[in-house]
Amino acid sequence: MKLLYKGKAKSVYERDEDTYLIEFRDDLTAGDGAKKDTKAGKGALNAEISAKFFEILKEKGIDTHFIEFQPPNKHLVKKVRIIPLEVICRNIATGSLIRRYPFKEGQELSPPIVEFGYKDDKYHDPMVNDEIAIALGAVEKKEELDKMREITLKVNDILTEFLKDKGIILVDFKLEFGKDKEGNLLLADEISPDTCRFWDATTKEILDKDRFRKDLGNVLEFYREVRERILA
Ligand code: TMP
Ligand code: ASP
Repeated sequence: MKLLYKGKAKSVYERDEDTYLIEFRDDLTAGDGAKKDTKAGKGALNAEISAKFFEILKEKGIDTHFIEFQPPNKHLVKKVRIIPLEVICRNIATGSLIRRYPFKEGQELSPPIVEFGYKDDKYHDPMVNDEIAIALGAVEKKEELDKMREITLKVNDILTEFLKDKGIILVDFKLEFGKDKEGNLLLADEISPDTCRFWDATTKEILDKDRFRKDLGNVLEFYREVRERILA
């Protein structure tokens, strides 16, 4: 199979005319690639967790690129052209939000905040408004951004509800979208502890990549904990 693209944590292979195979690797990065490590088994955990989330979303009527999980660490997906925007949704203030604005750590955000970042590590994925996203050619029309916002808020509702039952708070997360050859907008990429913040509902313990970003240790142990809770 032809390797089409190697990102920081995933590799994309062309499987046939209509599908890609995405390999979730064990590489972990933070700070736009400035900090790097490898944790054996991380790729498989993220692939399985992400597959579960895509299945739940599919059941609830969200259109995604996801076709099937191929254990231990691959997703078979529909081919899409990725829109170079990160759509971030926040229920609780933390991370870059409190570094950039005078929110308090842990402050509840109701309604949730949705923001777009332009995918470019060289510029540190800068937040863009609708006009900048369109002027950069990320999308053609404002309606596409509105559609992405609407789907992101729906995903937030579905996953918040699902995780609440598992004793997990969905603090924030990042989504990516793509367009298939017919022009349909599909949710793509991954939804995992690498791309979401999860806190234990009781202890508020961090269960996601912030353990790596902040050198809190036991990264994989907590990814395993998320896997066990969501598959239970
Ligand atoms: P932030 O607080 O660093 O902006 O991150 C917000 C959410 O987006 C958090 O769940 C982590 C996720 N995220 C990614 O998945 N990739 C990225 O490149 C960035 C900056 C954030
Ligand atoms: N995704 C970025 C990186 O891997 C930033 C982050 O998640 O902290 O470098």
